Amino acid sequence: MPNQHHKAATNLEPSIRIPFNRSSLLGRELEHISKTMNIGQIAGDQTYSKRCQAFLEQSLGVQKAMLTTSCTHALEMCAILLNIQPGDEVIVPSFTFVSTANAFALRGAKIIFADIRPDTLNLDEKQLEGLVTSRTKAVVPVHYAGVGCEMDVIGEIAARHGLAMVEDNAHGLFGKFRSRWLGTFGCLATQSFHETKNITCGEGGALLINDPRLIERAEIIREKGTDRSRFFRGQVDKYSWVDIGSSYVMSDVLAAFLYGQLEVWQTIQSQRRRIWNYYDKHLRDWAQEHGIGYPVVPSHCEQSHHMYYMVMPSLEKRQALISFLESRGILGVFHYVPLHLSPMGWRMGGRNGSCPVSEQKSERLIRLPFYNSLNQADQDRVIAAVRQFQP
Ligand SMILES: Cc1ncc(COP(=O)(O)O)c(C=O)c1O
Repeated sequence: MPNQHHKAATNLEPSIRIPFNRSSLLGRELEHISKTMNIGQIAGDQTYSKRCQAFLEQSLGVQKAMLTTSCTHALEMCAILLNIQPGDEVIVPSFTFVSTANAFALRGAKIIFADIRPDTLNLDEKQLEGLVTSRTKAVVPVHYAGVGCEMDVIGEIAARHGLAMVEDNAHGLFGKFRSRWLGTFGCLATQSFHETKNITCGEGGALLINDPRLIERAEIIREKGTDRSRFFRGQVDKYSWVDIGSSYVMSDVLAAFLYGQLEVWQTIQSQRRRIWNYYDKHLRDWAQEHGIGYPVVPSHCEQSHHMYYMVMPSLEKRQALISFLESRGILGVFHYVPLHLSPMGWRMGGRNGSCPVSEQKSERLIRLPFYNSLNQADQDRVIAAVRQFQP
């Protein structure tokens, strides 16, 4: 089965009345874009990028935030910053997006796949230590659906073995674990502003840096391996090629759009909380009655309300529910295909049965329509359609 990647999940076919995702203007996005055009700032790292970065630094309390062209690229920057070399091992959950692994594989790392917990679908911290070898360099917890991984356990194991911890926080902006923001636990963390995320600019991301020793080199890597940022600050009188890097800077046109969304982040988050709670209130009892799984949020986690999913009793039932919803003009979608069973994962030693929870959840999970402008009437239609389904 092909990976139903998030980019294919915005269905605009006329037969679909309630898509999985729909983008909308939520604040002053267009006004900010006009302003940046008027002042002639459309390349990156200008007024709006600086505003977004300052906003992320202040609101999350991170040492440094750098806007990037995507979360994928922020992850690639992490692999370069951590000096990942061929033969190094990096532990990632099998149930994640390709980029969590690919960013490290690009530097020659061997990816070691960890299975996930059956409740939160996050990296199973109880399995982590058993996967660590003398070659392990990093572990990449992914806060699935914006529910925090068990960061105290993972952090303690990483520290004891001298591993770098990189949080893939693509889903989890403004989520918390034990009252602390997600994205502030690892030496590095990455965010996504892709159109499917709570806060978006279409395509974009950010690198959050919590270890100040990594800041200077991150600036260079992000600017094609040059010390251009130091030149603009007047710290050197010309800039040149000083390290490896690439072109990871976000345009200020996108940063202006992003700023328009960041300004209203509390409204966005409370709207999504309302949508999530409404699904949960009207579907959880039905799910329990039919042996269907629903999202589990441990009491020490404040989730980011990124998605609402259900875990059906079998692959056949999941496919049947997708078709049933589609016949009613509603798009429900599956999510990641386990990476250890992908052609690349297979080459790295992944085998059927080696991450059984990832395999089972991947076949059975369905995500329901979830976007900031989803109104209650449409949400009622989704809920009614799900409840009409005979599991
Ligand atoms: C867990 C995770 N990491 C990384 C990414 C990549 O994000 P981007 O599209 O911003 O590169 C995604 C995309 O949805 C994701 O789900």
